[in-house]
Amino acid sequence: MSAGPPHVNGLPLANRTAIVTGGASGIGLAIARRLASDGAAVAIFDIDGDAATAAASAIDAAAARTGAGTGPGTGPGAGGRARGYRVDVTDRDAIDGGVERTRDELGRPTILVNNAGLTLPGPFLDLSFEVWRRSMSLNLDSVFHCCQAVLPAMLEEGWGRIVNISSSSVHSGSPRLGAYVTAKSGVVGLTKVLALEFGPRGITVNTIPPGFIDTPMLRDAQKNGVMNVEQQTAKTPVGRIGQPQDVAAACAFLVREEAGYITGQIFGVNGGRNT
Ligand SMILES: NC(=O)c1ccc[n+]([C@@H]2O[C@H](COP(=O)([O-])OP(=O)(O)OC[C@H]3O[C@@H](n4cnc5c(N)ncnc54)[C@H](O)[C@@H]3O)[C@@H](O)[C@H]2O)c1
Repeated sequence: MSAGPPHVNGLPLANRTAIVTGGASGIGLAIARRLASDGAAVAIFDIDGDAATAAASAIDAAAARTGAGTGPGTGPGAGGRARGYRVDVTDRDAIDGGVERTRDELGRPTILVNNAGLTLPGPFLDLSFEVWRRSMSLNLDSVFHCCQAVLPAMLEEGWGRIVNISSSSVHSGSPRLGAYVTAKSGVVGLTKVLALEFGPRGITVNTIPPGFIDTPMLRDAQKNGVMNVEQQTAKTPVGRIGQPQDVAAACAFLVREEAGYITGQIFGVNGGRNT
């Protein structure tokens, strides 16, 4: 097994290449930034190609300011660098194309964060089957496709880390989020299966179900009356809403070398509020 040298240049993810889906906004953007600052070369896959490119440029600019990603040894996979690709995670051909470009431009991807997702709310009796299927496609099938597309590179390396962003609503249920909660529940199940199948090959698979995190998605949910930020904050033991950086910190830990004995786990980031 080739584990790769941890902590090269003092950075825990140096010489690693990561793919973050939905990395142009909210939680995914915070994860992309954090993994890059930990030394990884980061490919941002997002349906909003312009936002993905802008996010990647900002990461590159930050790396240049701090000296990461420059100088000797900064070839593909050297870290601190980023690329943004327009990839719709419901489209397998687009995913395969994005993985190929990542390999060519940043190095073999061995970290995958499946983060892209949308709530698609609606009372159950009003939910069209089309919206139900769209939720499955975006929130669950995308994880199937991205894992299948990236696992071969991890198997070649004999090392890999997958983090699936699910949702705390899987544990509590949530009215008017039937299509979303069902799809995210599937993500938790697939996480457990993949952890068992790929643990022997050096690959860990975990899921982070975030609680209420202050992102454009959450603000939309507030606008649509699906949730109330103030009420949720009052029910949260640590007394505040989460920030995207809270999820990024947990994800950054799970993809490190030292987290190799943690797999198949549901790693809540919810301010102590489990329901
Ligand atoms: N914000 C929360 O409170 C919260 C809570 C639980 C779970 N989550 C989950 O966290 C993840 C990120 O959510 P967020 O709050 O940061 O949302 P966000 O809306 O800020 O970001 C989602 C990103 O996904 C991208 N995206 C949407 N459809 C896509 C597609 N088909 N292909 C590629 N990219 C696509 C969007 O362009 C956007 O950049 C989602 O999976 C969400 O379900 C969020």
